[in-house]
Amino acid sequence: MERALYGPGGFYRREVPYYHFSTSAQAPVFAEAIARLAEQVDVALGRPATFDVVDVGAGNGELLGHLAAMLDDRVRLVAVERRPRPSDLPDRVRWETKIPQVVTGLLIACELLDNVPCDVAVVDTSGELRYEEVDETGATRPGAPVGDADAKWLAQWWPLSVPGQRAEIGLSREAMWRKLTGRLAAGTALAIDYGHERSNRPPAGSMAGFLNGRQVRPVPDGTCDITAHVAVDAIPCERTQRQREALKALGLPIERPQLAQAYRDPTGYAMDLARASAAGRLTDPTGLGAHWWMLHSTWRRRSG
Ligand SMILES: C[S@@+](CC[C@H](N)C(=O)[O-])C[C@H]1O[C@@H](n2cnc3c(N)ncnc32)[C@H](O)[C@@H]1O
Repeated sequence: MERALYGPGGFYRREVPYYHFSTSAQAPVFAEAIARLAEQVDVALGRPATFDVVDVGAGNGELLGHLAAMLDDRVRLVAVERRPRPSDLPDRVRWETKIPQVVTGLLIACELLDNVPCDVAVVDTSGELRYEEVDETGATRPGAPVGDADAKWLAQWWPLSVPGQRAEIGLSREAMWRKLTGRLAAGTALAIDYGHERSNRPPAGSMAGFLNGRQVRPVPDGTCDITAHVAVDAIPCERTQRQREALKALGLPIERPQLAQAYRDPTGYAMDLARASAAGRLTDPTGLGAHWWMLHSTWRRRSG
């Protein structure tokens, strides 16, 4: 997964995410909600001299591009990405390969954790837990027995017993989350992703490929995105909530405009309708609205 996504010729070295799938972060109306969240965090921090908004796994930089037009110059916008900087990004958005050591403000990771490479465990025919091996054609077979740390994680979060059952081991996602929150001097860290809880884990795992807007077999040869849902309850955060609830609290969805406006102000009507439709997509309980928000805040500033 690491090599197929991020190695030489890997999917994300080459491809622009929005050609292949839609995410919340690509929608301008999502940035409106994030701007409101940033305002809340800024107020809670007493409006520090510099307020950071750091987007880790920024993709093509859409979220920060939109925020650049909404947030004042006191806000430092930093994208962290393994992809090259898009040419049309506003100058004020920094483009880094590493997460800043100290963040005071808001740290966001939208659909990052599902792309953090993880090992897969499978129960073999004799009932033993093994790592699942995969080759570049996508063919799989049981490999070595699962190590102690991974076995412990599986026992706690995703117990498997029936031959053929499979699970994506969440320790690498947890480590990424700890890295994000570890950089937060003061403020809020927010990861947004699709996921599951112990009560509804997918019995055969959730590893999937995406290419040109379609789900495909997750063949790790660099031709497609490879993703697996996040075991949300295993991420050590303060609070989780569904995106539709979180966005509602931030003022979405937006009411559709009255039809009468279409006669008075057709352009304004079309724009308001587009905003309302986009907000509807972000809060759809069968789609993006079901995504999880994982939140952690720290209000005490550390030096550094
Ligand atoms: C599914 S895309 C999401 C892009 C964007 N956040 C969005 O929601 O549209 C995941 C992105 O995370 C980036 N990524 C993965 N691991 C990363 C890491 N360790 N540091 C920075 N970026 C990373 C990938 O290059 C990819 O662009």
